[in-house]
Amino acid sequence: MRTVYVNGQYLPEQEATVSIFDRGFLFADGVYEVTSVLGGKLIDFEGHLARLKRSLGELDIAEPADIGNLLEIHRELVRLNEIDEGLVYLQVTRGDPGDRDFIYPGAETEPTVVLFTQSKPGLGSAQPAGAGLRVITIPDERWGRRDIKTVQLLYPSMGKMMAKAAGADDAWMVEDGQVTEGTSNNAYIVKDGVIVTRHLSNDILHGITRAAVLRFAREAQMVVEERGFTPEEARAADEAFVTSATTFVTPVVEIDGQAIGTGVPGPVARRLREIYLDESLKTAI
Ligand code: PDD
Repeated sequence: MRTVYVNGQYLPEQEATVSIFDRGFLFADGVYEVTSVLGGKLIDFEGHLARLKRSLGELDIAEPADIGNLLEIHRELVRLNEIDEGLVYLQVTRGDPGDRDFIYPGAETEPTVVLFTQSKPGLGSAQPAGAGLRVITIPDERWGRRDIKTVQLLYPSMGKMMAKAAGADDAWMVEDGQVTEGTSNNAYIVKDGVIVTRHLSNDILHGITRAAVLRFAREAQMVVEERGFTPEEARAADEAFVTSATTFVTPVVEIDGQAIGTGVPGPVARRLREIYLDESLKTAI
């Protein structure tokens, strides 16, 4: 049984409750972050906190009173639940105004803050289990502010189900002929040694792992191009991979049934995963 955090209290998970009028429940009016834990320490915590503040600001959700204590709360949950490898999920919603109304409530309604942990033994293994991901491409039918990390995850969830139905592991979403990102990760290809990933805009989530991986790639003298790419270009690439807080760097070996390169995890993705794990552990807190 886990200990979770809800609005200032650490509680056994079955005693933690949120109102049926909570706008997160009624309107998906909330934002979230997922921070991974390796060796009992938080990876890229500062980046996740900064993006949380940005997401709240973009939606005019007040910063919760807990904002200054989030590091301590994350650490306390990791300690109480004895997480060695896993993640901390954090969600902040606009709160419970006591009724359903499209209009945002006033300042008297305080945001709801929920955090819980998930244990994932093996998360930080040097190479992920299996031979790499198989992805399909699907149309990107999400809303237009994908840079805000909202809890409206129904379409990404549908995308994962489409992938599952097709016998694949995940889906890459395509808009105006170009890949935006994966259902819950950023997407990359490698061709002739050049790493290509979509440029930042409102069309994709500005991945915290993406920022770190691109920095490490450039420091290692790898060439990075931030631009859109087509599914055809991806299928003809030498390598492909995804990044996220829960997958770090994970190779993609097949797109729409077509093997990428030699059909096994490529050297660039493998190297970037090693560098990311080494470097991010150094700054884990
Ligand atoms: N998802 N793009 C999308 C659409 C995402 O949902 C995520 C993360 C990313 C990668 O961002 P980061 O590197 O900051 O984790 C990109 C999280 C892990 C999730 O929903 O579980």
